[in-house]
Order: sequence, then structure tokens, then C-alpha cells
Amino acid sequence: MNVIEKSIVRDMSLAPEGHLKIEWVQAHMPVLNRIREQFEKEQPFKGLKVAISLHLEAKTAYLAKVVKAGGAEVAITGSNPLSTQDDVCAALVEDGITVFAKYNPDPKEYKDLMVKTLETKPDLIIDDGGDLVTILHSERQDLLEGVRGGAEETTTGILRLKAMEKDGSLKFPMVAVNDAFCKYLFDNRYGTGQSVWDGINRTTNLVVAGKTVVVIGYGWCGKGVAMRAKGLGANVIVTEIDAIKAVEAYMDGFAVMPMIEAAKLGDFFVTVTGNKDVIRGEHYEVMKDGAILSNAGHFDVEFNKPELEAQSSGKRTVRRNIEEYQLKDGRKIYVLAEGRLVNLAAGDGHPAEIMDMTFALQAMSLKYVNDQYEAIGSKVVNVPYELDEQVARFKLESLGTGIDSLTEEQKSYLDSWQEH
Ligand SMILES: NC(=O)c1ccc[n+]([C@@H]2O[C@H](COP(=O)([O-])OP(=O)(O)OC[C@H]3O[C@@H](n4cnc5c(N)ncnc54)[C@H](O)[C@@H]3O)[C@@H](O)[C@H]2O)c1
Repeated sequence: MNVIEKSIVRDMSLAPEGHLKIEWVQAHMPVLNRIREQFEKEQPFKGLKVAISLHLEAKTAYLAKVVKAGGAEVAITGSNPLSTQDDVCAALVEDGITVFAKYNPDPKEYKDLMVKTLETKPDLIIDDGGDLVTILHSERQDLLEGVRGGAEETTTGILRLKAMEKDGSLKFPMVAVNDAFCKYLFDNRYGTGQSVWDGINRTTNLVVAGKTVVVIGYGWCGKGVAMRAKGLGANVIVTEIDAIKAVEAYMDGFAVMPMIEAAKLGDFFVTVTGNKDVIRGEHYEVMKDGAILSNAGHFDVEFNKPELEAQSSGKRTVRRNIEEYQLKDGRKIYVLAEGRLVNLAAGDGHPAEIMDMTFALQAMSLKYVNDQYEAIGSKVVNVPYELDEQVARFKLESLGTGIDSLTEEQKSYLDSWQEH
């Protein structure tokens, strides 16, 4: 079977639009372009199969093409039912990549598409949120054999992998791409910061200035979301469970308070914790009429939707990606993108220049794990510092920005404890 026969996508006639989207991001991903050139020459994945699960939009599509340029046979699926773009999927199939993905499949089909991706028997995987790894270690252990290792994109996936490593169930090495400096400092902070507001603004078409925004979780993503909310003119409240992060938010100029108090004040709520039920029944009870809830954490469990439904007498879709819940006391609460990642399910995700660095790390980490998988063993490992720094250097070069280097005297001064 050829790639077109094997693939499962919504509509191949959408391919021209998809090609244009990929072309646009490629022009804004200079770091990944450098890596593509290297891969074309060195063919690090020659003869290997790679399975990818990532938010399947244009930037991801370009990463898949770069891995293919390195000699791999690539199969790809989405990592969220609402973030897959059907035109991009069609274009990728024309580019010789096997695609198992559609926008908004039902939960069973979504899972089946992931399993089909694994049934291509990959040597290497790229995962986002740990779904491919989880399937391989639970219901489809028959496909584990032959997997050399992989790379994980996000905070939530790494938490899951570390739990597997701890109880001895992880069966191959995984590189924690999220924990590289060139990932979380830029992707989680500036990428999420910008794209969350893009998603909320284009979905609601409402003003942010003067409103109260409650950011739940002041990790790398939360810092970006709060910073950009302030830039849009909002009054920002942060809620946390970590005392140090709470002090940091306070020093950054934000009001900090428990969620039960913030719940009464917010016009917009953005959850970014990687945790569940951070907004729940007791909070809905005190929210203002018209409050708007969105989530930017990996899974759609950050606010408790069953409890919101239980407090409601009805719900309806009032605009694309906006559901209105009518509470029994007459108030209305709005939920964006069904509580899934608002920047991806109701937007195009992070800007291309941000994903340029993240996906450069993904591509280099995949090569690293393939070169070193026997030496690493079944562990979760960090991206080597040299690779992280290489991405930063490529990025600076692409910006035409130089930096200084240490003189010999400075080196010996910094290395010595006797010199004053
Ligand atoms: N939307 C995106 O494009 C995108 C991008 C990167 C990461 N993510 C996801 O966003 C989530 C957060 O990622 P991060 O890198 O910021 O993680 P992080 O670990 O840096 O931050 C999470 C923060 O949430 C806080 N927290 C946990 N439970 C809480 C609660 N009940 N109330 C208030 N605060 C609470 C933690 O103390 C921590 O400070 C993860 O699920 C990650 O996978 C999404």
C-alpha cells in the first residue's frame, strides 16, 4: 500500500491550502531549516520508522517533513481531537507522510487513529502528553519491541514518564524536550502567553482591557499568560498552590489570592496547571454572570465540566468554540473550546518562530536518542546542554545577533578562587 492508500484523513482535496500553510511556517523557521539541511546530508534516520503524535497543524507538519528528510519513514497522528487541521493532513500525505488524523473525531476513532500510527511499528517516537507511550506500555505491549526511544514535548507528558520510570515500567529512553531551556523559556512562556490570547480574542471578539483575568497556575505557561493579559490592559489575579511561585507572581505585580476569592472577581479565567479540578462546583457557585472559562493546560480536566453541567439547566453553542451554560439561578457561564487547549483548539497554536526552537530540539533529541539509546537505557533524560545551546546559537544567527565570548583572562578569573 502506498502512503495515500494507508493514510486516514478527512479530505484530500484540501491539500493545496495545507501546502500554503506549511510553506508559510517554513519561511519563519530558520533554525529547523538548518537542521533539515544537516539531516539531508547525514541521513540520521535512514531505514528507520518514526511515529509522531503532536498537535497536527502546519508547524508540526514541517517537523514531520524534516524527520523524513533525515531518511525516516514517518507516520503521524494528532495529540488533541480539536487541534488537527484537515488541510495540513492532506498536504502531508501528498508529501509522502502517512497520516492518521482528522479534526474532531469521536473519542473511539481518535484512539484508533493513534493505535494505527503505532501499528506502523516505529523505531522512534515523538509524543506530546504521553499518549503514544501509554498505549505502548498498556494495551499494545505487542508493539513495544523494536522501539528504541523517543522524545516528549510537554510538561504533562514528562510527569507521566517520570512516574513510569519511578515504578520501573518504562521500557525505553525518552528525552524530556520540555525541560530544555530553549523549550520552556520561550515555548511555554512566550508561545503560550501570546497564542492563548490569540485563541481567546478571535473566539470571543471581546475586549480584555479593564477586565479581570484570573490565571490559575504561575508556572512557565502561566507567567506568559499573565504577562500578556497585563499587556492587553487587564487587571490580573494569580492563584497558586506553591508559595514560591505565589511570591514571584506578587513581585511581578499581580494580585494573589485563593481561588474561592478570585472566582468571585474574574471576567476571564485561564487554567494552566497540568492538574485537575482547579475550577470546580464551589467556584462556579460564586462566579459572575457571563464569566468566560478557558484552559491552556494539556488535558481538558483542569476545570470540572461534569460539575458545571450538574449546576446547569441547559447549554447551547452560541458561537464557534463557545458553549453557554445556563445555571439554575439564571447566571450564564461560557466555556471556550470545550475546555481543551484554547490556543490550539481555538487558534493556530504558538507562533512559528517559537515552534522553530521547540521543534529544532525535537529533531535533535530524536537523533540523540537514536545514537545513544543503548547507553541511556530505560530512563527519562534531559536534552544535552550542547544541543540546547546549539539551538540558541542558530536562533541568534538567524536574527543576525552576535554575542561576546570570554577572553582568556576572564576565563582564568572565573575559574580561580585566589585571583581578586
Ligand atoms: N497550551 C499550550 O500550548 C501549552 C504549552 C506548554 C505546556 N502546556 C501545558 O500547560 C500545563 C502547565 O505547564 P507549565 O510548563 O506551565 O507547568 P509548570 O509545572 O511550570 O506550572 C504549573 C503550575 O501550576 C501550579 N498548580 C498546580 N495545581 C494548582 C492549583 N490547584 N491551583 C493553582 N495552581 C496550581 C503549580 O504549582 C505550578 O506552578 C501543562 O499541562 C503543560 O503540559 C500547554
